Amino acid sequence: MALIQEEARVPPDDRWLFLQTALTGPARREWVAHWPVGPLGAWVDWGAAYGALSVEVAQRRGGAVYAVDWSRARLEAAARCAERVAHRGIVLWTAADVMTYRPPEPVVGMSARFLLQHLPDPAGALAHWASLLDEGGWLMVEDVDDGWTVEHPEPPARWNTVVMALQQLQKSRGGDRQIGRRLPQLLTEAGFVLAETDVALQGAWVSPEAFALSRQLERLRLDGEREALLAGGHLTAAEWEAGVAARAAATGPVFMTAGTIRVRARKRAPTGAPRADLERLLT
Ligand SMILES: C[S@@+](CC[C@H](N)C(=O)[O-])C[C@H]1O[C@@H](n2cnc3c(N)ncnc32)[C@H](O)[C@@H]1O
Repeated sequence: MALIQEEARVPPDDRWLFLQTALTGPARREWVAHWPVGPLGAWVDWGAAYGALSVEVAQRRGGAVYAVDWSRARLEAAARCAERVAHRGIVLWTAADVMTYRPPEPVVGMSARFLLQHLPDPAGALAHWASLLDEGGWLMVEDVDDGWTVEHPEPPARWNTVVMALQQLQKSRGGDRQIGRRLPQLLTEAGFVLAETDVALQGAWVSPEAFALSRQLERLRLDGEREALLAGGHLTAAEWEAGVAARAAATGPVFMTAGTIRVRARKRAPTGAPRADLERLLT
């Protein structure tokens, strides 16, 4: 509800992220409901963007949640949304780089959702986060993997050209839209002990005529990147027009799946076992 009131103020090229926050809300809340968030110490939500996840953690725990993102505009919108939602804990909106930020108090838990896919050095981020986390503390990571994206009937080839150009653009910025499958390895190499490795798979029977929200999100995200796609030489204007027209012309319902990978992990204590005192507070 708070998100909907804020939507009109979001810049057009960021609407896709806003819509994604709303659209993935039910699946996100269902996952967060099972997290051992504990009452003490600090939680850090890395790459908080519009802050939905940060607030949902604060709704479940009494302690501080540091919502870290280097986009001040998104954090300001997030803070306005959060004012309209009741939560027990306090959210500290923190404009900073996730690669270097150090919270001023001990950290017992962290989350990073749809962030690592954008980072040129995800291993460096995980090593930094591990250095901040208390022994036995939790890290919850969710990220995309386009390998779980399936459509039947197949989308038009000219549309696929646009989708592939978008993947290339993210790669040229140092990102990876298939990072999901790498998460267990990356976290293990950073010294975490894995407690859950799961795929959250969504399937929908989508009618283009109804202009489903997932289709709106797809179009908004592409429109927001149009200039960068053309300027970076990933796509010509003609390819863009042809792809978008082919997508719009495809009629009839489509079965679509999209998958994200979820990992829950703990920082290994020097003995290899989670600290018993922290265990009691967190579970
Ligand atoms: C897709 S959004 C995250 C969405 C959000 N976590 C959620 O669950 O709805 C990625 C965010 O990471 C932020 N970001 C990317 N790299 C960053 C960095 N190095 N430091 C701080 N924020 C960063 C971006 O500004 C963006 O808001």
